[in-house]
Amino acid sequence: MHFNKHVFTISAAALLLANLLLPDAAFAQKIPSLKDAFRKDFGIGTCLNNAQIEERDPATTAFIASQFNMATPENIMKSALIHPKWDTYDFTMGDKLIEFGKKHKIKINGHTLIWHSQLPSFIRGIKSADSIRTFFTDHIKTVAGHYNGKVYSWDVVNEALNEDGTMRKSVFLQHLGDDFVTEAFRLAQQAAPKTELYYNDYNNEQPKKRAGCIELIKKIKAAGVRIDGVGIQGHWHVGKVPFQDIEESILQYAALGVKVMFTELDIEVLPRNFQGADVGARMTANEQSNPYTAGLPDSVQQQLAADYEALFKLFLKHKDKVTRVTFWGVNDGDSWLNGWPIRGRTNYPLLFDRNNQPKPAFEKVIALKK
Ligand code: XIL
Repeated sequence: MHFNKHVFTISAAALLLANLLLPDAAFAQKIPSLKDAFRKDFGIGTCLNNAQIEERDPATTAFIASQFNMATPENIMKSALIHPKWDTYDFTMGDKLIEFGKKHKIKINGHTLIWHSQLPSFIRGIKSADSIRTFFTDHIKTVAGHYNGKVYSWDVVNEALNEDGTMRKSVFLQHLGDDFVTEAFRLAQQAAPKTELYYNDYNNEQPKKRAGCIELIKKIKAAGVRIDGVGIQGHWHVGKVPFQDIEESILQYAALGVKVMFTELDIEVLPRNFQGADVGARMTANEQSNPYTAGLPDSVQQQLAADYEALFKLFLKHKDKVTRVTFWGVNDGDSWLNGWPIRGRTNYPLLFDRNNQPKPAFEKVIALKK
């Protein structure tokens, strides 16, 4: 026991010393910084997982702090994790994230208060509208209240829409009716008066879903309730990024008087038979579904770089309307797209490779500011 403690102390000290003397941090600083390059234009964010929030690897922490000034928890503030039992909340990891943000000057976007997915398991046992309403009210009050003044913003409602712009048949719609989105914002506003409040979705740059999203925003505003921004998740596909729809969406959303954000940006390079990011969707693996285990072919790498370059050009063109661009992962190795919609693939959707080295896409993006 005593011996183990000793070993731990020595290795921890060695780690610290190594980090001070020959730091990957210094290495990381040689890579131009996205957050610095775009400082005057919009915030640059990433999602963060448990290992990153707990700073398990000092080089990773330094890298994150050097590149990003905004962060969204990848999972830990979702209701299943933060509200595991009817009357039990677990703020442990969320509170660590708040500390991480303070320490590294990173603003935190809470994600997410009301979503049909990653719900606590007890929800399945609830059959009455009254109990769903109690859960809904208590959850928003308690979680948004706990983080009032601590998170910069909340994705108050996530993914309430279908592709055709109608409301998704979630447990909330079924039991609380159409107004649940407005009600969620009203409760969040009461519990977190100083926090920016956003609606977030995927494919809401597509015309039909966008129209539904615009209706939602208008409805919230018409009720005299505050909504500060709309998040377009931005889970797109290489060679198929819908630039025109994106530009049209920036303009139409901004015309409503809300901020526009790209909140979960990644560009899929692997075969997929549908667009978007419905976490409930799955694909069956076959011989063609994981083609790049030995590396990304140059042609795809170049297309990915061209797509990112054109995207950031568009974001810059509308920098007066776009307030934040958040990647869904620090590097390719972290990306959820290695596991969804097929487990165990090798994906390359981000700007940094598995060793946090800049990819050609990063070079193109950063060159826009040189
Ligand atoms: C994903 C996470 O990245 C995964 O780790 C998790 O297993 C499922 O959810 N839209 C969202 C995000 O709003 O919360 C999802 O995150 C990706 C799609």
